[in-house]
Amino acid sequence: MTEHRSADARFRTSLLEENEGPAANPTDNRTMGEIIAARFSRRGFLKGSLAVSAIAATVGPLALIAADDAHAAEGSAFKFDELEAAIDDKHHVAPGYDADVLLRWGDPLFADSPGFDPTKQSAEAQARQFGYNNDYVGYIAIDGSAEHGLLVVNHEYTNPHLMFPGIVSIVEKDGKKKAEVAPLSKEQVDVEMAAHGGTIVEIRKDGGKWQVLRDGKLNRRITATTEMALSGPVAGHDRVKTNADPSGRKVLGTFNNCAGGVTPWGTYVMAEENIHGYFSGELPEGHKEAANYKRLGIPEGAYEWGAHYDRFNLAKEPNEPNRFGWIVEVDVNDPTSTPRKRTAMGRFKHEGAESIVAKDGRVVFYLGDDERFDYVYKFVTKGTFSANDHAANKDLLDEGTLHVAKFAEDGTVDWLPIVFGQGPLTAENGFAGQADVLIETRRAADLLGATKMDRPEDVQPNGVNGKVYVMLTNNSKRKADQVDAANPRAENAFGHIIEITETDGDFTATKGKWEVLLKCGDPSVADVGATFSTATTAHGWFGMPDNCAVDSAGRLWVATDGQGPKATGRTDGLWAVDTEGAARATSKLFFRVPIGAEMCGPLFTPDDRTAFVAVQHPGDGGEDWEGFGRPSYYEDPSTRWPDFKPEMPVRPSVVAITRQGGGKIAV
Ligand code: FEO
Ligand code: CA
Ligand code: CA
Repeated sequence: MTEHRSADARFRTSLLEENEGPAANPTDNRTMGEIIAARFSRRGFLKGSLAVSAIAATVGPLALIAADDAHAAEGSAFKFDELEAAIDDKHHVAPGYDADVLLRWGDPLFADSPGFDPTKQSAEAQARQFGYNNDYVGYIAIDGSAEHGLLVVNHEYTNPHLMFPGIVSIVEKDGKKKAEVAPLSKEQVDVEMAAHGGTIVEIRKDGGKWQVLRDGKLNRRITATTEMALSGPVAGHDRVKTNADPSGRKVLGTFNNCAGGVTPWGTYVMAEENIHGYFSGELPEGHKEAANYKRLGIPEGAYEWGAHYDRFNLAKEPNEPNRFGWIVEVDVNDPTSTPRKRTAMGRFKHEGAESIVAKDGRVVFYLGDDERFDYVYKFVTKGTFSANDHAANKDLLDEGTLHVAKFAEDGTVDWLPIVFGQGPLTAENGFAGQADVLIETRRAADLLGATKMDRPEDVQPNGVNGKVYVMLTNNSKRKADQVDAANPRAENAFGHIIEITETDGDFTATKGKWEVLLKCGDPSVADVGATFSTATTAHGWFGMPDNCAVDSAGRLWVATDGQGPKATGRTDGLWAVDTEGAARATSKLFFRVPIGAEMCGPLFTPDDRTAFVAVQHPGDGGEDWEGFGRPSYYEDPSTRWPDFKPEMPVRPSVVAITRQGGGKIAV
C-alpha cells in the first residue's frame, strides 16, 4: 500500500460515514446491481429528478412562514429564540446562550501532557492528549453532582488530510487535477491509532464555566492499542483466536467508536461502528470467514494500518476482524481497569448503546446498526440492576437476550430473539452455537426476517414519556419498490425518526407499537415529503438525524450529520423537537457547526443547565472555505498552501453550552 491513492479512495471523510461499499444487505435480490442513486442534493434535486416547473408548482405554504413565527407552536416545550440556519466557518448558538470550547483535539489531559503542536505529533504525545473526531459525549457524576463529573468522549476516526501538514498534493490525471494524500509513515499511523478510542476526563463547573481538571485521578485515554478483554459467549472461541492471542480473550484496542452510552451503574460503553475500513489484504483462498466479512464490507482498506501491523492484514491474521464490531464497556472508576468487549450484545456496525432500567429491574440497551438496509436491535440483560451494590452489576452485559426489530405495516413492532437453536438459528444454517450467532449477528437477523432500515443511528429510550426514538439518517439507495411503512420514502435523502411505544410501557417487551414521528427535509418542497409541523420555520427543519438526546424533562434534541451547501443549504446542528401535544413534530434550531463538521454528542447534564455538544471534523468536505486559511482537498492547494501555518488546523472540539445568567437550557 505504498502508492498514492485517489482522493475518493483515500480521503476518509464522509465515505465511511455513509457506509458505501460492498456491505449492502444481500438478502433482497432487488438491491443487487442497482445503480448508485443520484445524490439527493438540493442542487441535484432541482436540476435532476424533478422538473423546475414542478418544484415551482409544489412550493407549499410553509415556505411563506416568517422566521419570527418561531414561537408559534402552541404548547411547545421550547421557548428559546431560534437560531438562523446558515453556513459559515464558526459555530453559533441561539441568542442568550454561551457556547464555550471545552476540549479540542490535542488538548492536554494530564498534568504531564505535552502541549499541542501539529508539526511535532507523536503517538506518545497523542496518547496524553484529547483524541480526534469526538463523537459520543457522556457525563458520569461524581458524588451525584451536576457540576463535577467525568466527561467520557469517543474519538471515532481520523482525517489525516486535516491532521498532518503537507501530505496533500495535486496531480493531473486525464487532464483533470486531483488531490492525493501521501502514504502515511509508520509514525503517522501510530499517531492515528493513538488519536482513536476514547477520553475519560474530570471536569468541574466553576463560576458558571466548565474547566478540565488535568490532575484528575481518573483521567484516562483509551486508544487503538489499549489492552482489552473479550467477554461473554464469544470469549475464547476459535473464530477470535489469532497468532498474537491464542487464547481468543485478549484484544488490543478499539476503534471507530461512534456513539455509545453510560450505563445505569456508571460505566462507559463505546460502540465499534465502521470497522471495515481498518482492514486490508486478502483472506486465504476459500477461507471460512469470507461470507461473514463480505456482509460487513471487510476489508475496505481506507486505513493503512495493515501496511505496518500484521493484525490488520487479512492475509496474515484472518480472524482479527472478528474481534471488532462489539460494544466495549469501561469501568471509569479504575483507570487501570481492562475494558471489556461485551460479545452478548452482538457484532455489527454499532452506532450507540443507550439504556434504561425496565420495571422489573432488567436493563435494556437500544442498538442501531448503521448501514443502509440494516437493523435496529435491543439487548435485555438477564440479571437485574442493583442500585446499591455496584459489584453486582459488573458483568450484567455478559448475559442477556439480543433482539432485532421487525416493523409491521399495521404499526406493530416485534422484537425477535437472536438465540441459537431458535427458529432458523441452527446448525442447518451454519451456526454451531450462540458464539457463531453473535459473530454473524447480521446474518442471524437476515434469517429472522428483520426490517431493513434507512441507516439506524442513535436509538434513545425516553424515561419520561416511556417511548423510544430511532434516528434513521438516510438511504439514497432505497428504490420505490423497496419502500415499506417504516421506511416510507424512496431515495430517502433526508432521513426520518420513528417513535416506538413498548407494550405496557415495558422496555423488555417483545412487542410494541411504532409510528413515524418525523420525515425530515425541506417541508417547503412538497415532493420532499417532509412532515414537520406547520409551526416549523425555514430555520427549524433539518435533514439527516444522527445523534440525539433526551433532557431530564423528556424533551428530544436531534443532532444531524451530512447537511451542508449541497444537501440542505445549512450546516449540521442541534435541533429541539417537540414530541407532545399540538406542537408535536415542531423543530427549532438551537446550535450549528462550522462548515464541514457534523454535530455529535449531544448530552445534557442532570440539572439540564449545560448541553455538551461535539463538533466533529470541522473544515472537512468538498468546499473550499477561506476562513479556515487552508484549501479543501478538492481544490489546487498550491494557491494557498504556502500560507499554511501550523496553528491553522481546525480542530474537532467539545463545546459546553450554558444559558447566560444561569438557568436551565430549554426554557
Ligand atoms: Fe458514525 Fe453512524 O455514525
Ligand atoms: Ca453517528
Ligand atoms: Ca455521524
